[in-house]
Amino acid sequence: MKVGLLIIATNKYIDFLQPLITSADEFFLKEHDVTYYIFSNLPIDIKTNRKVVNTSVKHRDWPWMTLGRYEIFSRNSHKYDSDYLYYCDADMRFVGEVGPEILSDRVATQHPGYYSRRGTPETNPISKAYVGESENMEYFAGGFNGGTKEEYLKMSKTISDNIEIDYSNDIIAIWHDESHMNRYFIDNKPTKILNPSYCYGESMNIPFEKKLLALDKNHKEIRK
Ligand code: GAL
Ligand code: GAL
Ligand code: MN
Repeated sequence: MKVGLLIIATNKYIDFLQPLITSADEFFLKEHDVTYYIFSNLPIDIKTNRKVVNTSVKHRDWPWMTLGRYEIFSRNSHKYDSDYLYYCDADMRFVGEVGPEILSDRVATQHPGYYSRRGTPETNPISKAYVGESENMEYFAGGFNGGTKEEYLKMSKTISDNIEIDYSNDIIAIWHDESHMNRYFIDNKPTKILNPSYCYGESMNIPFEKKLLALDKNHKEIRK
């Protein structure tokens, strides 16, 4: 089973890369054949025994880097020699075993702030990310998701097209890519839902084991 881990790290986010990869070497599917697919605008030199595939991308200012992730994955669809693709934010750290329990067709992670709740979906009906009040949902975090290569690329293409349509209508969804991902998972139910262990806010105190931390950071500083 070949698994790809997709990571986008431009400008200051590059500082997160080596510690993230080192932690993934130790905890992310350690019995599996994992390739790191890294998208950056800077030359990178990663220390790992696993395969690394670098792809150069332009840096764009906030929020375009987060909004544009699915377009980047989609545009590079020919590069992935993997059965499964997972994505994690660069500003994350593996601190506990993440194993084959995550492998499934469409994999979503409960948001650490809104697990088993409606969370903060897009409420503007003009947006392609819109979720109506009568629609049932639970809120997922944008920081960690995945699936089979086929399913992941299908999701990436749909979300990227929807973001493009929103843009042509002068709309950016409230939580960017995360809003569109939540819409997608209403229409295409996840086949596996991971608990907030897999996107655990570093300084939060919630009743889950810590496996993948979303690191505290100074957003203003880092997004400059
Ligand atoms: C915040 C998180 C954001 C977004 C938001 C959704 O806690 O930092 O990235 O997920 O929740 O309401
Ligand atoms: C954060 C999440 C990012 C991105 C962002 C949207 O919570 O970690 O991956 O989805 O929300 O603003
Ligand atoms: Mn993040």
